[in-house]
Amino acid sequence: MTNVKITVKANGPYLVKGDIELFDTAGNSFPKSENGYALCRCGQSGNKPFCDGTHGKIGFQAATQAPVPGSAPVA
Ligand code: FES
Repeated sequence: MTNVKITVKANGPYLVKGDIELFDTAGNSFPKSENGYALCRCGQSGNKPFCDGTHGKIGFQAATQAPVPGSAPVA
């Protein structure tokens, strides 16, 4: 099993770590990164699909939380 970890950062990018390949819309692969990738979630990066820190400048707000086991689902 491949060990991949994706972390949703509060008000920021998706941090993707592990043995992964990242492809563009034409199927071409981005250079592999030993440190993983920070993928833009705000949609405003000047270097998509990567985060360039713009989320902080624009005040992007998205503190996504996973549901707590046993709690009521969020509507
Ligand atoms: S999440 Fe960082 S620039 Fe979009």
